Amino acid sequence: GGDAFAGVPQPQDLDALARGLRDCRRCPIGCNGTRAVPGEGPSDAALMIIGEQPGDNEEMAGRPFVGPAGQLMSDYLGHAGIDRAQARLTNAVKHFKFEPRGKRRLHQNPSAKEIDICRWWLDAERALVRPKLVLGLGASAGRSLLGKTTSIQQVRGKPIALADGSELWLTVHPSYLLRLDGEARETESDKFAADLAAVAARSR
Ligand code: URA
Repeated sequence: GGDAFAGVPQPQDLDALARGLRDCRRCPIGCNGTRAVPGEGPSDAALMIIGEQPGDNEEMAGRPFVGPAGQLMSDYLGHAGIDRAQARLTNAVKHFKFEPRGKRRLHQNPSAKEIDICRWWLDAERALVRPKLVLGLGASAGRSLLGKTTSIQQVRGKPIALADGSELWLTVHPSYLLRLDGEARETESDKFAADLAAVAARSR
């Protein structure tokens, strides 16, 4: 992935990073005409929360985690005692990948290659913000942060040391909870809440 950025200087601050994202055409998603959604939140946040990619709502608003999955996440953060406004919210992939279906835009998963290209931006953002704790939501965030595809179910609930000295916790993406119902929704929601409670305990 990094080859696409050969010779590109590291952004000096988060504004420069956002400008760079806006013009990035290094992967097919960046070339699809949507607007890039930069991270949001304090430049010195102790906690960085990393999703997959902006969705339909996020692309329209130009802000991360404003749609249904983001709202569900906010509820769970509040319940765990984590202040969303104090966290840096961002994504593994900065443009929205979708398939047009009539008037709707249906979410599509980014490919491993697309995640690996966009990782350069996430690495730059982590280097600028230097969070102590990183919460990765879902397999795409996991791939970006670990550099390989990893089973969330196998690694959730325990800290993973990252090379920069920060501590990574991986859990499922809240949009996964939105796709479940009944007993599965309850069980998985409880597990998600427990994972966030563990992160909250580390951030105190
Ligand atoms: N909104 C985001 O910004 N990212 C996600 O991963 C999901 C919703």
